[in-house]
Amino acid sequence: MLEKAQQLKLQFEEKVNTAKTPADLEQLRIEFLGKKGAVASLMSELRNVPNDQKKEAGQIINEVKQFVENTIKEKNIELQKLEEERLINAAEDYDVTFPITEEKGSYHPITLVQRELEDIFAAMGFSIEDYDEIVDDYHCFEALNIPKHHPARDMQDTYYLSTNQLLKTHTSAAQNAILKKYTPELEADRPIRVIFPGRCFRNEKIDACHENTFFQMEGVMVDKDISISNLIYFMKTMLSEVFQQDITVRLRPGFFPFVEPGFELDIQCTICGGKGCPSCKDSGWLELCPCGMIHPNVLTAGGLDPEKYTGFAFGLGLTRLAMMRYGIKDIRVFNSCNLKSLSQFENATFTSPDKEVK
Ligand code: DAH
Repeated sequence: MLEKAQQLKLQFEEKVNTAKTPADLEQLRIEFLGKKGAVASLMSELRNVPNDQKKEAGQIINEVKQFVENTIKEKNIELQKLEEERLINAAEDYDVTFPITEEKGSYHPITLVQRELEDIFAAMGFSIEDYDEIVDDYHCFEALNIPKHHPARDMQDTYYLSTNQLLKTHTSAAQNAILKKYTPELEADRPIRVIFPGRCFRNEKIDACHENTFFQMEGVMVDKDISISNLIYFMKTMLSEVFQQDITVRLRPGFFPFVEPGFELDIQCTICGGKGCPSCKDSGWLELCPCGMIHPNVLTAGGLDPEKYTGFAFGLGLTRLAMMRYGIKDIRVFNSCNLKSLSQFENATFTSPDKEVK
């Protein structure tokens, strides 16, 4: 019996050393300590042992049993710790390509339109830049030829912060930084071509058509000999891509201190083809995108010589475009956090503005 017990102990020791996980250990526990396990079967052999040796043999088996139990307990603590570490490490370098099995969310309609436009502009050689939402007076106004007390500031009721900064009222606030950052392009005889989408803030009374938080997508192109013809051709091509049909544009004079001349660009109504319908308020035209030739003062503030370089800028209303694109009639949908409204656009194609989204 002593021999058998020692053998069992050896067998156990060998196996326990190869156990790698708490699950392996549980297997071993069942194998040795279970009802039909090795220790129990040794116990059952006790009945064949002569009576005078029974007590001693029983003690030996009990010692082995104790040993197995204790070893498993200790080893279990050790393996649990390792297992925890393994799980933590696995969580740290999780596999980003792992297939998502849970129901996935959807992109916000502004994100969808923004990405679509970014693709179109990228194909035309434009870089895409992100810019701060908190800026200073210089970038939002002064560098754009809007000095203090200029009446043009009245159009943009601004949220000023106590830090002498403000929430940017238009994406044009990035123009100065972009011109400076991309000057090396001009030096390398390449045009500056950049778009910079962003969130803008103005103190507006909120209703179906007005929001205090909205999105624009600004663009600039600067090179030698850029003219209004370049601006018109470019805007027409770009908008035809956006609307996926040939677009007719018209320019009306518009005043913005940072462009000279400045324009309001209208597109012929895509619904009625210019005949007049409710969507274009019977005018046949939709106001879409202010633009113009960058003012020499703005180029100078950006560190460029206006005698040498010219350029155009445009400010697309991204929120407006998303409303047209998806037929959203109430601007409040965008910031509503209403998933029922916001999740229906991912697979939407061009929607008539007549089709109302609630
Ligand atoms: N920043 C102007 C606004 O939000 C829009 C604008 C007008 C942008 C003309 C431009 C531009 O780039 O050339 O009211």
